[in-house]
Amino acid sequence: MLSLTHSLFTTIFLVLVILLHPSNAQLSSTFYSSTCPNVSSIVRNVIQQALQSDSRIVASLTRLHFHDCFVNGCDGSLLLDQGGNITLSEKNANPNNNSARGFDVVDNIKTSLENSCPGVVSCADILALAAEASVSLAGGPSWNVLLGRRDGLIANQSGANTAIPAPTESLANISAKFAAVGLNTTDLVALSGAHTFGRGQCRFFNQRLFNFSNTGSPDPTLNTTYLATLQQSCPQNGSGTTLNNLDPSSPDTFDNNYFKNLLINQGLLQSDQELFSTNGSATIAIVNNFANNQTAFFEAFAQSMINMGNISPLTGSQGEIRTDCKKVNGS
Ligand code: HEM
Ligand SMILES: *[C@@H]1O[C@H](CO)[C@@H](O)[C@H](O)[C@H]1NC(C)=O
Ligand SMILES: *[C@@H]1O[C@H](CO)[C@@H](O)[C@H](O)[C@H]1NC(C)=O
Ligand SMILES: *[C@@H]1O[C@H](CO)[C@@H](O)[C@H](O)[C@H]1NC(C)=O
Ligand SMILES: *[C@@H]1O[C@H](CO)[C@@H](O)[C@H](O)[C@H]1NC(C)=O
Ligand SMILES: *[C@@H]1O[C@H](CO)[C@@H](O)[C@H](O)[C@H]1NC(C)=O
Ligand SMILES: *[C@@H]1O[C@H](CO)[C@@H](O)[C@H](O)[C@H]1NC(C)=O
Ligand SMILES: *[C@@H]1O[C@H](CO)[C@@H](O)[C@H](O)[C@H]1NC(C)=O
Ligand SMILES: *[C@@H]1O[C@H](CO)[C@@H](O)[C@H](O)[C@H]1NC(C)=O
Ligand SMILES: *[C@@H]1O[C@H](CO)[C@@H](O)[C@H](O)[C@H]1NC(C)=O
Ligand SMILES: *[C@@H]1O[C@H](CO)[C@@H](O)[C@H](O)[C@H]1NC(C)=O
Ligand SMILES: *[C@@H]1O[C@H](CO)[C@@H](O)[C@H](O)[C@H]1NC(C)=O
Repeated sequence: MLSLTHSLFTTIFLVLVILLHPSNAQLSSTFYSSTCPNVSSIVRNVIQQALQSDSRIVASLTRLHFHDCFVNGCDGSLLLDQGGNITLSEKNANPNNNSARGFDVVDNIKTSLENSCPGVVSCADILALAAEASVSLAGGPSWNVLLGRRDGLIANQSGANTAIPAPTESLANISAKFAAVGLNTTDLVALSGAHTFGRGQCRFFNQRLFNFSNTGSPDPTLNTTYLATLQQSCPQNGSGTTLNNLDPSSPDTFDNNYFKNLLINQGLLQSDQELFSTNGSATIAIVNNFANNQTAFFEAFAQSMINMGNISPLTGSQGEIRTDCKKVNGS
């Protein structure tokens, strides 16, 4: 009788829990603890291997998680190749085409995981884990990655073209795109700090170098010493694909130099410098704080990566666990 009452109460309690959390299943740092306990070290080992021959790979992988999460949530949709039901891939969208890279390393991670724990770890979770391992391997913070995302069945190329911010956009427009996915101004400034490593092609900032906004002059918020260097690297009518360090003071290290650069007008992208040079903006105090206190930046960056990783995940029985990150199962 006692145990019957007890189990009745347990049932009512469980029903209430389910009703109060409708399909809003939470991600969890222990999601694979029984099904793939070594998932983090497997991801990290593959990246460490790739890093031997490509110092940029950690930056490239970190960016993939961002470009995945901003379009239909963190669902691995960025990784799908065009073909079959995927008529317009996100890979081919403007912010990604001839720019996003690291897909081969994602495939190597997937292969390694399928060998150890077949059919278990989603490609969306691989991107979240790869971002954390990458930042940490480059000298940045570590954090507990929340897991349990499932992989989407569609790609959204037009969504990628509109939802991912462009480097020539105003701060107001970029803030609106972050707000649209639930990220605030602190998240915007902290996550922009990912531009402490990796490269940018001339075509993404050369509008600043000679005739900015048809003024006949360069962007006035660009340090004149740095301007001269960039004009050399990116001459008028030169190749738009020449690579430049996003953080020339420490190109492959994850530190707070990105913010120190902004204080001396040495942000590479217009969208970088705007964080500090937009008069009256709430972002200025946050840049100053991160430039003066690397611990504050690292703590905020880790929290904002978790916030970004929580954007509309597929959970439970939604979506699938892809076998090949490039293709929907059965296609
Ligand atoms: C705030 C708005 C942002 C804009 C407008 C922006 C724009 C860009 C652009 C234009 C590039 C250069 C791509 C190329 O030359 O091929 C780039 C590179 C990069 N972005 Fe962003 N980005 C933003 C935010 C972020 C965020 C939130 C992250 C990650 C948390 C991130 C991580 C990176 C990294 C690591 C690179 C270097 C990639 C590599 O070397 O392969 N960015 N970004
Ligand atoms: C997990 O990885 C560690 C080191 O990478 C290894 O020593 C251990 O045997 C692995 N455990 C399992 C269950 O694969
Ligand atoms: C992507 O870039 C290639 C050149 O590498 C170009 O041929 C193609 O049209 C581009 N795709 C889109 C959708 O713009
Ligand atoms: C594609 O992305 C856009 C922008 O985020 C969104 O408004 C739209 O609903 C998405 N479309 C589909 C089919 O998911
Ligand atoms: C900001 O967004 C508005 C509305 O989408 C657009 O008309 C405008 O051109 C954008 N401004 C910049 C600088 O991108
Ligand atoms: C952004 O949200 C975080 C909580 O995630 C909060 O601590 C921070 O103060 C917020 N920033 C702004 C500018 O509202
Ligand atoms: C800047 O661009 C505008 C518009 O294309 C043009 O009218 C002007 O002559 C250019 N100025 C210089 C100095 O090239
Ligand atoms: C760039 O090309 C345009 C058109 O071909 C030409 O008018 C201009 O003089 C060139 N500028 C430089 C600096 O070579
Ligand atoms: C430009 O950069 C130099 C260092 O290269 C720095 O000394 C100077 O203060 C900077 N100028 C401005 C206006 O920030
Ligand atoms: C910001 O304000 C200063 C001083 O009032 C002014 O010189 C500068 O042109 C303004 N900058 C921008 C980007 O509007
Ligand atoms: C730096 O930021 C950390 C984290 O917010 C804080 O605990 C610490 O007191 C700050 N240090 C200084 C010198 O302000
Ligand atoms: C492709 O789309 C068709 C029509 O919606 C559907 O029947 C089929 O199952 C899809 N294929 C895959 C592999 O999802």
